[in-house]
Amino acid sequence: MADAPAAERLALVTGTSTGIGAAIARLLLARGWEVAGIARRNLGIEDSRYRHLAADLQDAPAAAAAIESRFGELLGDPRWRRVGLVNNAASAAATGPVQRLDAAELVRVYSVNVAIPLWLMGLVARRSPREAAIRIVNLSSGAAVRAAPGLAAYCSSKAALRMAGMVFGAELDSPLRPADTPIDLSIVSYSPGVVDTEMQLASRSMQAEEFPWGGMFRDFAAQGLLAAPDLPAAEVVALLETDAGERFAERKRG
Ligand SMILES: NC(=O)c1ccc[n+]([C@@H]2O[C@H](COP(=O)([O-])OP(=O)(O)OC[C@H]3O[C@@H](n4cnc5c(N)ncnc54)[C@H](OP(=O)(O)O)[C@@H]3O)[C@@H](O)[C@H]2O)c1
Repeated sequence: MADAPAAERLALVTGTSTGIGAAIARLLLARGWEVAGIARRNLGIEDSRYRHLAADLQDAPAAAAAIESRFGELLGDPRWRRVGLVNNAASAAATGPVQRLDAAELVRVYSVNVAIPLWLMGLVARRSPREAAIRIVNLSSGAAVRAAPGLAAYCSSKAALRMAGMVFGAELDSPLRPADTPIDLSIVSYSPGVVDTEMQLASRSMQAEEFPWGGMFRDFAAQGLLAAPDLPAAEVVALLETDAGERFAERKRG
């Protein structure tokens, strides 16, 4: 099947203000996609095909209402032949020993890392044209499967997002699938590896008593092992543009 012309492709990307999400948004625009971006800060991408929603994903009900109000109708435009969703925004807050975690902060982290990404998967499946190819990429991490002391909230939320994608994939091949759901819909849980971003900088800056693996990340940086955000961004965009799609797949950078 020939791919959709660029003007018929829309991607919803969270966390477009910096890091991997900003690189994904810029690359998509360079490749002719329309992009709907969400982050608290506005990166100021000057492009008529970029729409930005300044929203704080820590408050899931308010964020979901703002996103549906701003982008719901756009998603439903019958001109889209391909719709991408990149669940990229994440919070690595609520660090330190489990005994000291704050309940309100945990709810905020799960809102950004799990509740909104899962809700967005449903939104895109519910509002996009039925004939469109839907490609969802959820940014995962080694932390989804490896226990990092001091990062219980981040690790467990990444594990939850990975599983949410798996369950959604299984639902789509079950009697639970609503009849109006786009048929060509696939989900990838993608691990970008160690990437040179604000989040990496924060993990290098944490004290040993808060995050014992901080030294490992300082060593990675000292050895020049951090990838530029453009590298995973190119792979995410390739996943959005691919035709073949297992219902659910896992990929790592490289
Ligand atoms: N960097 C790595 O080495 C690495 C490794 C494995 C996995 N990952 C994953 O890759 C993804 C991108 O990471 P990154 O390193 O590029 O992170 P980053 O540089 O910290 O950027 C995170 C993005 O998420 C947005 N965001 C965070 N909290 C938000 C909130 N409450 N509301 C709205 N937007 C919010 C930020 O925008 P605002 O602050 O403007 O809101 C920013 O655009 C994440 O899912 C991360 O878990 C990264």
